[in-house]
Amino acid sequence: MTNSSLPVGLPDSHARETVARLVVLISGNGSNLQAILDACSTASLQAQVVAVISNKPDAFGLERARKSNVPALVVPAQPKAPDRRVYDSQLADTVATFLPDWIVLAGWMRILTSSFLDRFPNRVLNLHPALPGTFPGTHAIERAWDAYHRGEIHQTGVMVHIVPDEGVDCGPVLGQETVPIHAGDSPEQLETRIHATEHRLLVAVLRELVQTTSPQR
Ligand code: GRF
Repeated sequence: MTNSSLPVGLPDSHARETVARLVVLISGNGSNLQAILDACSTASLQAQVVAVISNKPDAFGLERARKSNVPALVVPAQPKAPDRRVYDSQLADTVATFLPDWIVLAGWMRILTSSFLDRFPNRVLNLHPALPGTFPGTHAIERAWDAYHRGEIHQTGVMVHIVPDEGVDCGPVLGQETVPIHAGDSPEQLETRIHATEHRLLVAVLRELVQTTSPQR
């Protein structure tokens, strides 16, 4: 999509904007969000985080956003909501107001339904702390650790992929990196190594994406 297809009435400043607009969805600590914010602030990533949205009011990533003067919003899930699609549709409405080029799921701990994904086709990225096709869902690092000690794997990794549908931690892979598991590792050491790899890979994938694509908004 090019700027000529921008919605009618969009301010000129948006039409002229060439820096990619990112909306980052989080549920917790936000260390990957921080990696993105840091890269944007040093211009090593030609992008701007235009909003951070959490489903959890106490997510520390919201603080990180505020410190960087980025709008930090909470869209809380209703515990007894009858239909996740209602939430996802409201979330999509909120995200859309920020005119994102890319939506980054950086520790977003909810499965998104087509009510959200269909609004942003091929523009939602997810980070998963394991290699493609391995350990989908929660506790991927712990499960890799256990699998290593059962002799089933020798290494693990991280990946960034497009989220095409409601499948969990699967979709076209934009980047992946293996992470070694050492015999003397504690679970914490493995986790630290994986997170450091995530921070690097996520920024690298975003850098390539914004350098090689036109604005998507
Ligand atoms: C990351 O390991 C991410 O891959 C997983 O949740 C973790 C979030 O970490 N889905 P943080 O909130 O970015 O620190």
